[in-house]
Amino acid sequence: MITDEIYEHLVYDDAVFTPIVRAVPELADQCIVVNGVAKTYAMTGWRVGWMIAPADVTKAAANFQSHLTSNVANVSQRAAIAALEGGLEAVHEMREAFDRRRRTMVDMLREIDGIVCPTPTGAFYAYPSVEGLLGRTIRGREIATSADLATVILEEAEVAVVPGEAFGPSGFMRLSYALGDDDLAEGVGRIQRLLSE
Ligand SMILES: Cc1ncc(COP(=O)(O)O)c(C=O)c1O
Repeated sequence: MITDEIYEHLVYDDAVFTPIVRAVPELADQCIVVNGVAKTYAMTGWRVGWMIAPADVTKAAANFQSHLTSNVANVSQRAAIAALEGGLEAVHEMREAFDRRRRTMVDMLREIDGIVCPTPTGAFYAYPSVEGLLGRTIRGREIATSADLATVILEEAEVAVVPGEAFGPSGFMRLSYALGDDDLAEGVGRIQRLLSE
């Protein structure tokens, strides 16, 4: 089992993050935990992550990686150590900002006729259903799928969203709230205006 715990610190409301090995200790010998600094410390560009796994798996992965990429740049590793040793105060501040943006985004999306938006309790994405918009015509273009909708939103409102097709079924779209409050309100506002025409 590979478990990606990269959003462990970004949970909201009553949600509690539980590492899988804590929930099911018997899995420890067959579990690979992956994680990194990209989300918790907003260090996406530093390209540092890690893996916690049984020793033989770790050894094989290290051998493999040494031939693929040779190493993670030393300066990135030092920065990651500083982040991990620096405590979680800044992370908690960031989570508060994400929490505020999450509420703004969900509220604004729910104002759009045809969108149904559950409240996310982790990470930094809203994943509303847009099924109510399929079959409509927007600026002369027929919207048959969420991929069509994402294209129209990109070209007409100049806002990038990821259509549900990237993850599975059509009929959904993913919007990130990892951006500033003003930009977020501007972006979702543009989508609101486009879809209310
Ligand atoms: C579930 C998940 N894991 C990992 C990553 C990326 O991690 P990294 O930037 O360290 O490659 C992302 C970022 O989009 C993610 O959503």
